[in-house]
Amino acid sequence: MKARLTVYADHIKNKISSNIFGHFMEHCIDVIYGSVYDPHHPLADEDGFRTDVLDALREVKTPMLRYPGGNFVSNYHWENGIGPAEDRPKMFDYAWNAEDDNRFGTVEFIKLCKKVGAQPYICVNMGSGTAEEAMNWVEFCNGTGDTKYVRLRKSLGYEEPFDVRYWGLGNELYGDWQYGSCSALDYAKKALDFAKAMKWRDPSIELVACGHDIGSEWNYTVAKVLKPLIDHVAIHHYSIGYGVFNEDNYEECMYIPEYISKLTKVAKADIIAGTGDALTDIKVAWDEWNTHAWDFDAKKNEAACTFRNAILTAGILHSFLRDSDTVEIASYSPFINVCGALAVHESGVVKRPQYHVFKMMAEAFGMCDCFVDSHTVCEEYELDEVIDFSNRLPEPKFALDAKSLRRKVKTPYIDCVAALNEECTKIVISILNKHPQEDCEIDTAVFGTDVNWDHVQCMTLYNDDLEALNTKEEPEKVSVSEHILSVSSGKVCVKKHSLSIITADLVQAAGSTEDK
Ligand code: AHR
Repeated sequence: MKARLTVYADHIKNKISSNIFGHFMEHCIDVIYGSVYDPHHPLADEDGFRTDVLDALREVKTPMLRYPGGNFVSNYHWENGIGPAEDRPKMFDYAWNAEDDNRFGTVEFIKLCKKVGAQPYICVNMGSGTAEEAMNWVEFCNGTGDTKYVRLRKSLGYEEPFDVRYWGLGNELYGDWQYGSCSALDYAKKALDFAKAMKWRDPSIELVACGHDIGSEWNYTVAKVLKPLIDHVAIHHYSIGYGVFNEDNYEECMYIPEYISKLTKVAKADIIAGTGDALTDIKVAWDEWNTHAWDFDAKKNEAACTFRNAILTAGILHSFLRDSDTVEIASYSPFINVCGALAVHESGVVKRPQYHVFKMMAEAFGMCDCFVDSHTVCEEYELDEVIDFSNRLPEPKFALDAKSLRRKVKTPYIDCVAALNEECTKIVISILNKHPQEDCEIDTAVFGTDVNWDHVQCMTLYNDDLEALNTKEEPEKVSVSEHILSVSSGKVCVKKHSLSIITADLVQAAGSTEDK
């Protein structure tokens, strides 16, 4: 297969936020206890964190961690997780039907974030919680002065505020699986009180309202009522399992990134309609996403951890980069265990294939500030796009008003994105070849700057077997190879179903014609 890639390095489209490579740590199952937090484990540090898990979170340059839920947060009272562990009450968590002794709480979460260099992002309880409780949480974390919750923090030995900048206004309150679920208007009115109280306590925080991935009426109402107070509207997506995509159909699944990009655009359109402001700064936050639903059946879980799934994960991260004028936050859900990128065993960790995608992308694009325009001409394939809203509430009214819609769409095999670092001294190009059988020779031209093509660094994630897994027995079966490419002729050859990230020096800095 042959393709043509043109990069317009002098056309900087927008800034990229590294928070799109963030992760979700729900306080449930083995996402925290018995994995990252395990005080009795031989590898635990002085604060009870497993050092091998911390290393893995650092290595993947975790920019942001969302906590504590998810469904869990809708019956979580943060004060139960404060103070000496032996004094903390054991509570029943009805989201996950489990007992929680609250050993891991806010202070432990902040410590975890500090240890791995991540921004904390806390979602508040809008199920059984109150606006006052949320405001007190903000005070405990960020407050200065001499008030009750500042004193409480200081009494625990934390003189300085934790500076938690990102706060979520509840989780999935549109769904009847959520404690406190309600109508869009009831949510928006309640969230207004929460937002006011929280911003009164700390006006510098950024607020993330609860949105709906396919609920335009919900998003419209939320944006309309909350527009002066929110910075992001969060939407969630798990394509295979909760969504409409068929695991066995490779080409259909490889379309998921484009589908997600459509959902981003529809959500942004809802926000524009709700605020009545075409230039609104309110962003879309994908603060829970995974290719697969959380499935606790080990056999099905394997499908979420194959090399094939890594290719799909890379495609979704490409879509966030492409939409990075609209998306500044994304949280892979969950990062640890279940269908996450890191499997934590008693004896060590296994980096699943998608772990390497995060490592490659966060490393390369984490240093990049400027997303630049590019265009790829390549072979496409046709498939049936099925959009089925029948299992979701509320039904969308503005974006698409059919219950189920089927139509033909065309999608490319080669997907490329490019960015420059802040100083405009390096260019990063990520090339995803989704073709299941064919390698590709890509004619590459970069306009607007001079690339030193003689010495180009390239990282590739490839395995001949799309179903390959990393396991305790074979932890390195799918791994990254690093090599130096000579692409002086402008030709880059990539393997079938592979991810390649090229980093090249620029001979002279690109001029910018920012269009923002
Ligand atoms: O399966 C994880 C759950 O999915 C999260 O707790 C919730 O937010 C979502 O519905």
